[in-house]
Amino acid sequence: MSETLPCALDEAGIARQVHEFYARVRSDTLLGPVFEAAIAPADWPEHLRTMCRFWSSVMLCSGSYSGNPVAVHRSVAGIAPELFPRWLGLFSATASDLFAPDIAAAFTDKATRIAGSLRMAVFFRPGQRPEIA
Ligand code: HEM
Repeated sequence: MSETLPCALDEAGIARQVHEFYARVRSDTLLGPVFEAAIAPADWPEHLRTMCRFWSSVMLCSGSYSGNPVAVHRSVAGIAPELFPRWLGLFSATASDLFAPDIAAAFTDKATRIAGSLRMAVFFRPGQRPEIA
């Protein structure tokens, strides 16, 4: 029986999470088409590098990411509020498969908070009633 040790919370572990998560995203029936329409095949390595810098900044406070995720997501065709729970479900399941439970929970907690504020910033317009749920 071969047992794989859980990943450590370091740059290598973050790279595993990012690469595995986007592999699952790309083969997801709902999220896959949205990402494939936005990111050309040749641009995926750069997207994955950006996402490694983002998660390294979030989880390790490395400060290696700079960008404007709200502006970027506002111009993603096909993005919709209903897709966020699916995104989070895949992200959380990936973290649980790769990390010890406490680290997986820390990833899920950060992702849930950021997804909530991102969703609000992308979809809420002044004068519009905020979603209750
Ligand atoms: C339904 C949910 C989501 C969809 C469909 C989505 C889709 C995308 C796409 C297509 C891009 C690449 C855009 C481009 O390069 O033109 C992108 C970039 C990015 N996404 Fe998301 N995303 C979602 C949720 C999230 C969440 C919850 C987070 C954070 C927890 C996140 C963080 C980022 C970041 C940091 C970038 C890079 C922005 C930059 O270029 O600086 N996304 N997303």
